[in-house]
Amino acid sequence: LLLIIVTVVLGLSLRQNTDKLNPTFIARCQEFKGYDCEKMWDVFEQAYVGRDPCDVPMEAYDPFIAAAPLKPACNRMMFWSKTKDLVHDFTEKRDCYVTVEDSLLGSVLDGLTWCGKEGSSETFTTGCPGWTDCVNNTVRSFWNRVSTAFSDVACGDVTAMLNGSIVTPFHPASIFASIEVKRFDFPRVKSLNVVLVTQNKTVTNCTNASLKDLQKELDQGITYNCEEVTETQIQDCSSHPEKPCGACW
Ligand code: APR
Repeated sequence: LLLIIVTVVLGLSLRQNTDKLNPTFIARCQEFKGYDCEKMWDVFEQAYVGRDPCDVPMEAYDPFIAAAPLKPACNRMMFWSKTKDLVHDFTEKRDCYVTVEDSLLGSVLDGLTWCGKEGSSETFTTGCPGWTDCVNNTVRSFWNRVSTAFSDVACGDVTAMLNGSIVTPFHPASIFASIEVKRFDFPRVKSLNVVLVTQNKTVTNCTNASLKDLQKELDQGITYNCEEVTETQIQDCSSHPEKPCGACW
């Protein structure tokens, strides 16, 4: 009897795991007007279903990206690295900037894990390779691809919120450094404004060595700025909608 109970409970929980991604995806997608979300799901699934989850190249997501092209929001595009929660709390509460996670493509998959399996037509949400387990894993390739698309439409004055409480705010292995910055082309992108956010403790400032590397990476003609801002200042702006965006830092 115990064996039966264990089997049923385990079976149910596994079932739940495999079924959970689709409703989340559809519900989030429906927040955006004018898209056929069932169709979006089908196109998304085709990128990885039936494939080795460590062998899904970025290009596998091309049709999915093409199904909901990212729209340029000149002067309002926000990039980030190691500041996810703070940035999203800010963009959620204030209509100053947009991140890739505010777009349909980024929003439907934010915080989720998924993968396929060779010889299976299912989507799994457990037992998938981790971020660094293999280069071409299902999840990482998606974020690389969508970040490429987001930076390709970046225009005007671009903002990046980096973390001033770590030694290397511009880390070469990050998506921001390895993909996004490399795709900022002058004169489409006029300036890059780094907001270096200090959390509870200040570890570095705008003279940081990795930020020197960032400046070297920038396409000729793009103006670089860096500002040191405390987390409290940003939270203050998040909770005071009457404060103009330009006065946040
Ligand atoms: N394990 C799991 N997830 C990871 C890992 C990891 N080791 N590294 C990165 N990620 C995923 C997580 O979802 C994390 O929140 O990528 C997200 C961003 O990672 P960061 O290292 O904080 O930043 P970065 O790699 O620079 O990516 C952020 O990419 O999402 C786009 O436009 C967005 O500018 C932003 C940039």
